[in-house]
Amino acid sequence: MDQTRHSTAAPRRTELRVDLGDRSYPILIGQDLLDDPSIWQGVGTGVAVVTSDRIAPLFLDRLIHTLEQSGKRVLSVILPDGEAVKNWETLNQIYDALLTAHCDRKTTLIALGGGVIGDMTGFAAATYQRGVPFVQIPTTLLAQVDSSVGGKTAINHPLGKNMIGAFYQPRMVVIDAAVLGSLPERELRSGMAEVIKYGFIYDAAFLAWLEDNLDHLLGRDLQVLEHAIRRSCEIKAEIVAQDERETGIRAWLNLGHTFGHAIEAGMGYGTWLHGEAVATGMVIAAGLSASLGHISEADAARVATLVKRAGLPVRAPALGADRYLELMRVDKKAQAGAIRYVLLKALGEAFVTAVPDQQVVSVLEAHMEQTSS
Ligand code: GLY
Repeated sequence: MDQTRHSTAAPRRTELRVDLGDRSYPILIGQDLLDDPSIWQGVGTGVAVVTSDRIAPLFLDRLIHTLEQSGKRVLSVILPDGEAVKNWETLNQIYDALLTAHCDRKTTLIALGGGVIGDMTGFAAATYQRGVPFVQIPTTLLAQVDSSVGGKTAINHPLGKNMIGAFYQPRMVVIDAAVLGSLPERELRSGMAEVIKYGFIYDAAFLAWLEDNLDHLLGRDLQVLEHAIRRSCEIKAEIVAQDERETGIRAWLNLGHTFGHAIEAGMGYGTWLHGEAVATGMVIAAGLSASLGHISEADAARVATLVKRAGLPVRAPALGADRYLELMRVDKKAQAGAIRYVLLKALGEAFVTAVPDQQVVSVLEAHMEQTSS
């Protein structure tokens, strides 16, 4: 447990911007930003920090201390941890705590945690008293490079992941790369899936950089991690600024997610981590892209090799192709029940298309684990 107070000098940080007109906001990236009271100057006095029972012992006291130094009145709300509890019951605990403490419409919600906490806190902020400000402090690599930026908020439904939610942008995202020092290995690798996704969909030079630097990233070299986080957030900010509501290019960010969400739901939420499922999904999507002739088999192999080197799974669980199709029909990209897939046109460029079920089934079967019986 790390409740240590870090240096008193203001931590060094860089700033990116998500450009959305009067809803634009900064992404602050640096180390030990949890200890920097100057960040909070523009935020109102009443704040509620929403976190999980796994993250609270690591970082909550530190953050409360910093917020109090900057003159805030702080309520904290500690939720159970994990994808399996990203549901109405847990969300309701946030409303209960806010109402019990008489929090008003000026209260800023602060999400301190991974993607589940960020998504649930964002949805609570979008709906509490018809909308209150919120700030994201992502504590996993996955949340730092993806879910904390762009305003997607949601809870799961037993019939589909993230099916109940809203687009609701944060006022600020604070990324403290130093928190990754205590991130469990499996979570670090899971986050790496979303980092390498940006190389596959948008930036072939970044992909080559990732291939060269993967060992430093997995070895938690903070300078290298910070660079990867910054480039990932730059790409995400660029895409979200063009297409906030996902009518076009934003769907590229879902490379591997259609297959991945089916794995997560089919195995039971929380069994596979989101990044693990997305990683396998990207390998299948690359295989499908190659089978349709958009990329070469060598390109598809390059995708699988990087995923494997990151310690992520490349084979899908043997749920059966029909079950996959059934699960994928509730994907949010589906239109009138027709599944739409994010595929690769090249390494560094994606597109969205429908594909005949038969073709998908044969690629899925080639990527599925063999059953032992
Ligand atoms: N995680 C994909 C998106 O934010 O659009």
